[in-house]
Amino acid sequence: MLKGKNLLCLLDLKKEEIEKIMEVSFLMKDNVYSNSIPKSLEGKRISLIFEKPSTRTRVSSETAISLLGGVPIVMNKNDIQWSRGEPVEDTARVLGRMVNGIGARVLNHETLIKLSNFSGLPTFNLLSDLSHPLQALADYMTIKEKFGEYKTIAFVGDGSDNVLVSLMAFAAKLGLEIRVGTPKLLRPREDIWKRIEEEAENSGAIIEFYDDPYEAVRGSFAVYTDVWVSMGQEEIASKKREMLKDYKVTEDLMKYTAKGGIFMHCLPAVRGEEVEGSVIDGNKSAVWDQAENRLYTAMSVFSLFI
Ligand code: CP
Ligand code: NVA
Repeated sequence: MLKGKNLLCLLDLKKEEIEKIMEVSFLMKDNVYSNSIPKSLEGKRISLIFEKPSTRTRVSSETAISLLGGVPIVMNKNDIQWSRGEPVEDTARVLGRMVNGIGARVLNHETLIKLSNFSGLPTFNLLSDLSHPLQALADYMTIKEKFGEYKTIAFVGDGSDNVLVSLMAFAAKLGLEIRVGTPKLLRPREDIWKRIEEEAENSGAIIEFYDDPYEAVRGSFAVYTDVWVSMGQEEIASKKREMLKDYKVTEDLMKYTAKGGIFMHCLPAVRGEEVEGSVIDGNKSAVWDQAENRLYTAMSVFSLFI
């Protein structure tokens, strides 16, 4: 069903394909806990290219591929000829002759499309300026584990965030609800928002924006935030901090969730900026479960697509 496909954006997949990834993610978790992991990547090699730093994505991807019997080849941009100006197209052509898949964390989403087109290999988005699909899969897995079903997320913070785009794409495909508390000037890129809106209309998903973070959070089951200054946005850091100063996740804000509401963050976090330390380190925090689930969703995706 998914063999040979790319995972660049969740909007490119069918609802049933996303459901399959989720089903296999839960199976992979059981397999890891019962020490009965299928060696479905035996004899396969996957290049993992990083143009930006990574902890969770790198370790979950490398571990996932190794556990499934494959060979991960990590290539930091500074170590390869790409950093000396070799075109992405040429890098992709070479990889196409030697490996079976490419994962890449890139500055510009377009680079992923070039890697896919010129390698002819299944290509995985390990985070771009536009989206972070592997993160959203692990986040919804965490919600399903906690509540037994997918629940409403209130995202508070940067409405143009790449992780938020993937959460919205997942919700739009599956007919779920996301409430976004963000300033009017920080909204998703228009082209991607149009696609999300179309999908939401088809599925019945509800995705709404609120100026008031309290309105966004009221009655939701998960409050999610991400850093205010994403990698690559250092030049506009002070502007973003100013715009987002009223959108911090505080203990007070968490009081407005439904009973049993949890706090979520893709990490890394800046304690005291987008979230109070007592919230991320408190008993409502699900962040370490989210991080752990990155492994099982990565195992699911690599085993299904390669
Ligand atoms: N959440 C996430 O993608 O973390 P890393 O940047 O450490 O990979
Ligand atoms: N929005 C963040 C996510 C990090 C996992 C960034 O792009 O830096």
